[in-house]
Amino acid sequence: MMKRIHIATSSKQYEVVIGNELLHMIDRMIDRICPHVTAVLIITDETVASLYLADVQQALRQTYDRVYTHIIPSGEEAKSFEQFYACHTAALTNRLDRDSLIIALGGGVVGDLAGFVAATYMRGIRFVQVPTTLLAHDSAVGGKTAINHPLGKNMIGAFYQPELVFYDISLLHTLPEQEMRSGFAEIIKHSLIYDRVFFGWLQANVQKLDDLHGDRLQYAIQKGIEIKAAIVAKDEKEHGVRAHLNFGHTLGHALESELGYGVMTHGDAVALGMLFAIFVSEHFYKQPLFYSSFRTLFKHYGFPTSLPSHVSPERLLEKMKKDKKAKDQTVRMVLMKEIGTVCVERIDDEQLLRWLYVFAEEGGEKCDSSDSRGNDCER
Ligand code: NAD
Ligand code: GLY
Repeated sequence: MMKRIHIATSSKQYEVVIGNELLHMIDRMIDRICPHVTAVLIITDETVASLYLADVQQALRQTYDRVYTHIIPSGEEAKSFEQFYACHTAALTNRLDRDSLIIALGGGVVGDLAGFVAATYMRGIRFVQVPTTLLAHDSAVGGKTAINHPLGKNMIGAFYQPELVFYDISLLHTLPEQEMRSGFAEIIKHSLIYDRVFFGWLQANVQKLDDLHGDRLQYAIQKGIEIKAAIVAKDEKEHGVRAHLNFGHTLGHALESELGYGVMTHGDAVALGMLFAIFVSEHFYKQPLFYSSFRTLFKHYGFPTSLPSHVSPERLLEKMKKDKKAKDQTVRMVLMKEIGTVCVERIDDEQLLRWLYVFAEEGGEKCDSSDSRGNDCER
């Protein structure tokens, strides 16, 4: 069944439309929401193009005369200055004007890049998100757009909301398992930061990734988006609670940048980051959060549960200090007080380095929460 979720940010209101087999109506849906479009540029990646571009083009041509396409390479490396420039060149060559529309057809990489192109082309033209990955339930909603810098992930970007998010979940059936797992990490994140009942539902209903299909998949996506919607409605530009959406991302982003973009999926990096955040939370708040059970659960879903052995804690710390939440060179991490409640905390460098070392040794399993290493943390 088709479902609509209303997103109300301070700069813009729009709908997320979710359902099965919706592609045939994409042109009418866009036309209703975006009047007087002069030309459409679909930005997509090679993999998605080979699977769905022809169908999307065909549907759009029922309404629009000028439909152009620009295809980027698949994968995280495409969130680059070079691809950003190439997208602008495609928009200029095809003479897009201020009433033209960009369609981001793909996962978070396409969405983040195409959204940033839309935000900057002629100082901003309209765009529509057409997510094709599970992870994009997160990235397509809320208006964060960005490309990476070799020195840091998502460092160059803008807050820029789409006109519509058009989510046909039948497109997810071609997603490889590792990409389903990657998206599932962000679903788990949404439950852990906001809704313990939803976390319980996930544990009961998604015992393995294969369980994520049909109604369960749609429900999990809807819940994830509703949580994100509630947070961005309160804080569009991350002056406060939106930072909670970064649970697991301080270490996650550092790992992605340190390993080289695309080596580990975003979701795997975030899952490992969440595990580390739970490990740190136990020590920081000096209360049991059942870290070992989380580690077992994450292992069961196939997420990495230990740091790659060749990654140095010192280098990770340096990267974590470049995180956008850091203030005065001090790392600020989203920590978990209990399932459904998180908080941003300043963590002193020396302490964080010690925790990274302990976590690097067998995922910190040997260290219990009363360990004295947790006693000198600064709040
Ligand atoms: P992605 O866009 O690279 O997609 C993953 C892989 O799946 C790619 O190889 C892609 O070609 C392929 N693919 C996409 N759709 C497919 C389909 N339907 N069938 C088969 N293959 C398909 O990655 P992602 O995981 O969707 O997104 C990760 C990115 O999202 C990261 O750059 C991350 O920083 C960003 N992100 C942004 C936000 C935000 O708020 N803007 C939030 C979370 C993550
Ligand atoms: N994924 C983090 C955010 O949207 O704020």
